[in-house]
Amino acid sequence: MIENAMRYSHTLLKNTVIPGDTVIDATVGNGGDTILLAALVGKTGKVYGFDIQPQALQTTKEKLLLTGLGEQVDLYLQGHETLKSVVPAKTEIAAAIFNLGYLPKSDKKIITKGETTIQAIHAILPMLRKGGLVLLVIYSGHQGGQTEKDAVLAFTEQLPQQFFNVLHYGFINQRNDPPFLLIIEKK
Ligand SMILES: C[S@@+](CC[C@H](N)C(=O)[O-])C[C@H]1O[C@@H](n2cnc3c(N)ncnc32)[C@H](O)[C@@H]1O
Repeated sequence: MIENAMRYSHTLLKNTVIPGDTVIDATVGNGGDTILLAALVGKTGKVYGFDIQPQALQTTKEKLLLTGLGEQVDLYLQGHETLKSVVPAKTEIAAAIFNLGYLPKSDKKIITKGETTIQAIHAILPMLRKGGLVLLVIYSGHQGGQTEKDAVLAFTEQLPQQFFNVLHYGFINQRNDPPFLLIIEKK
């Protein structure tokens, strides 16, 4: 079976991230990506996680405690657009993941936005190591989603090809705006 956007993002993380790496979960939410990243980097690595909703970080903290993966994860209650305030500029990032949109079963008005998503990508790209990935799982079906999708596509399409590969991965025959994955790879 062909993997959907979310599953394929996890496959790519498993193929890219190794113990000791530093990675970013730009949209922690309920911690699905954070837990995977924490397991992949191991006790010698580091996960920087960002979200603007306290309940998201609380849920994720509990999951990290239960799985014994908390040691290598630093969670920040702040927007990913401010990540430079906590991630030192010289850090070598192996991968970063964005799961855009709203927190499932929560306030659908609290969404990621194109402008701040792009600011965060901008901040990460210089820190990305060769072969490193920025993964964006993009949902456009909710209010505000289409605007963010258009902005992120416009930004990533113009990334210089001598420095980055940008891949658009998603089903094109499904109804109801299925999520798709944008993959930025540093050459
Ligand atoms: C689709 S959810 C993330 C799902 C998560 N990756 C998971 O596995 O459960 C999107 C999250 O982005 C968060 N968010 C919205 N704007 C943000 C911002 N500027 N910086 C960081 N997180 C943000 C929302 O609070 C929400 O929890």
